[in-house]
Amino acid sequence: MVWNKEQLRKVIHEKIGDAIFVVVSNREPYIHVMKEGKIEFQRPASGLVTALDPMLKACQGTWIAHGSGSADRRVVDEKSCIMVPPDNPLYKLRRLWLSKVEEDGYYYGFANDTLWPMCHIVYTRPTFIQRDWEIYKQVNQKFANAVLSEIEGQKAFVWVQDYHLALLPQMIKEKRPDALVAQFWHIPWPNPEVFRICPWKDEILWGMLGNDLMGFHIRYHCDNFLNSVDQSLEVRVDRERSSVFHHGGSETLVRPFPISIDFEGMQEEMKRGFTVDDDLTEVLDSIPKEMILAAGLDRMDYTKGIPERIRCIGRFLEKYPEWQGKFVFLQMGALSRIHLPAYKAINEQINNAAEEVNWKFGTDDWTPIMVVRHHISHPDILALYQRADICVVSSLHDGMNLVAKEYVASRTNEDGVLVLSRFTGAARELESAILVNPYDIESFADYINTAVVMSPEEKIRRMKKLREIVSENNIYKWAAKVVEALARLA
Ligand code: F6P
Repeated sequence: MVWNKEQLRKVIHEKIGDAIFVVVSNREPYIHVMKEGKIEFQRPASGLVTALDPMLKACQGTWIAHGSGSADRRVVDEKSCIMVPPDNPLYKLRRLWLSKVEEDGYYYGFANDTLWPMCHIVYTRPTFIQRDWEIYKQVNQKFANAVLSEIEGQKAFVWVQDYHLALLPQMIKEKRPDALVAQFWHIPWPNPEVFRICPWKDEILWGMLGNDLMGFHIRYHCDNFLNSVDQSLEVRVDRERSSVFHHGGSETLVRPFPISIDFEGMQEEMKRGFTVDDDLTEVLDSIPKEMILAAGLDRMDYTKGIPERIRCIGRFLEKYPEWQGKFVFLQMGALSRIHLPAYKAINEQINNAAEEVNWKFGTDDWTPIMVVRHHISHPDILALYQRADICVVSSLHDGMNLVAKEYVASRTNEDGVLVLSRFTGAARELESAILVNPYDIESFADYINTAVVMSPEEKIRRMKKLREIVSENNIYKWAAKVVEALARLA
């Protein structure tokens, strides 16, 4: 059975009944910005938003998140709320405001300079700064206060998202033990040897054990989490049930839920047609139609393996010179977390890698590597996917990676080749992609060649399988499975 909006609505209605449904995350689904003196809204580049926005649209509820846009305050009511999507309001977004000091310690500091590198293990060393930790705790409390005021006097189902809010579940449960609380961790969970170096590891784990249900993308991350709990805390880990018993009988179920996308919604969007920005049209028009186009679309993040990917394309052009002048690699994506040194460095590395390949192989009328950094709208993303003969997703480590699933969903002609890192959660489901080890430049370059020379029949055979999997395991199924698992605990 293929899940859709209606079925999800039904499940939520049946299982949650009259309880208020609240989603909490750091990143908001719509950001208002000032552009040329006018207020505009954007959808941020985030897997979390890609996945949860269609779900909230389908079943309403309230989303609480940090208001980070330059024009966010101008459009909300006196309770900091606004109905979204702004062009077709369906659910409530409640914005929470952070000072620069809070954003610095909590978001840039503890979330993205401690937890992010620690969970991804891509050889970028996490920092452990007491002040960041203190601010992380304060900001988690601020989110908890917002949730508690939102659910006051009502039955509630609270769904916490991600590593920015590890302490929130316990803070909510302390005040509202009757509320059902779940959390989904959108990034990997490391093995206990990595996690044990964190000076505040026990507090983090206790925070997460405030959940009735703790979700990760894959079983491996669930097992890593259970092992970390087992090694650090005086609790009972029940492997059979995949759960943790603590605090006089309370239980936290730990389950894998591989996140996905709105496959059907994308098909409809493509049928309706969409308007592409002039900037993107210019970029795509500059690439001759007969040129093979491979594309990458990522937030500019060191976990995504972008310099490695560009160096691999260089090696491919060297090993298979017959493709020189006939192949272009276009890397697109928004800048991210640029205040952190590791993110400044990765942009430098991307520029250097592209410059190196272009210098070595480029000619007066052919630039093999193009890098375009800016925010890309959803219609532009679809246009890019449709033009890309090959999509390269070569993360060094990734919880899931929804670019891979969106590329598959966009290939309505059932052609196109997905080259996918083995170290993404998506690789567990998308076995018909060309799976690569992004650290192994020689085999990675050979696999790019495999993608380039693949026969049309083979492309269709693989793409059909990929599309079946993504279509069946869509975002509505993901959300329904979480709601059903949680409701069983009520
Ligand atoms: O795919 C989910 C994710 O990795 C989140 O964990 C994160 O919030 C997001 O993508 C993008 O990062 P940010 O919110 O820092 O822009």
